Amino acid sequence: MSNDGVNAGRRRFLVAATSVVGAAGAVGAAVPFVGSWFPSAKAKAAGAPVKVNVSKVEPGQQMVAEWRGQPVFIVRRTEEILSNLTKLNDRVADPESKASVQPEYVDPVTRSIKPEILILVGICTHLGCSPTFRPEVAPADLGPDWLGGYFCPCHGSHYDLAGRVFKAQPAPLNLPVPPYSYDSDDIVTVGVDQEKA
Ligand code: FES
Repeated sequence: MSNDGVNAGRRRFLVAATSVVGAAGAVGAAVPFVGSWFPSAKAKAAGAPVKVNVSKVEPGQQMVAEWRGQPVFIVRRTEEILSNLTKLNDRVADPESKASVQPEYVDPVTRSIKPEILILVGICTHLGCSPTFRPEVAPADLGPDWLGGYFCPCHGSHYDLAGRVFKAQPAPLNLPVPPYSYDSDDIVTVGVDQEKA
């Protein structure tokens, strides 16, 4: 076969391949339309409530779940952590979360249904980074007044162990508290309001 023959054959192949891609593209374009009528299992799962066994969280420690593609921080607070919260009321910007996102059925200061279990959406209210859990008291990098909380590595916002943002930070609001409910002492459903459980 001459070079021309090879090239002609290759052109035919490319034309055929392009047609197949075109057809696949047309099918692909139709899927989102159909999907808007019948949400996929994946789409449902992305917004579905999430059950979490909070008994696994050690005192003073955090576990991270995922709900709607976002990290959810779950902390078991000790008596010491809870008593420290009241010492910080004057240093946080919105101590009773009047402007911040939290369900009405959580306590305004502890920001939780059960005081010892804190549940937060782990997304900084400044520009959406995920803050780092820093439960230790007075670490060298956060200073002697630090009683435990969250530090956002992106622009340096500080939050306490109720997710309340300190004054004069880039972040304007407290970390949001998601809707949640207790199915039993240990099982929490994130994404379902307490009253509707
Ligand atoms: S995103 Fe957290 S301080 Fe900017």
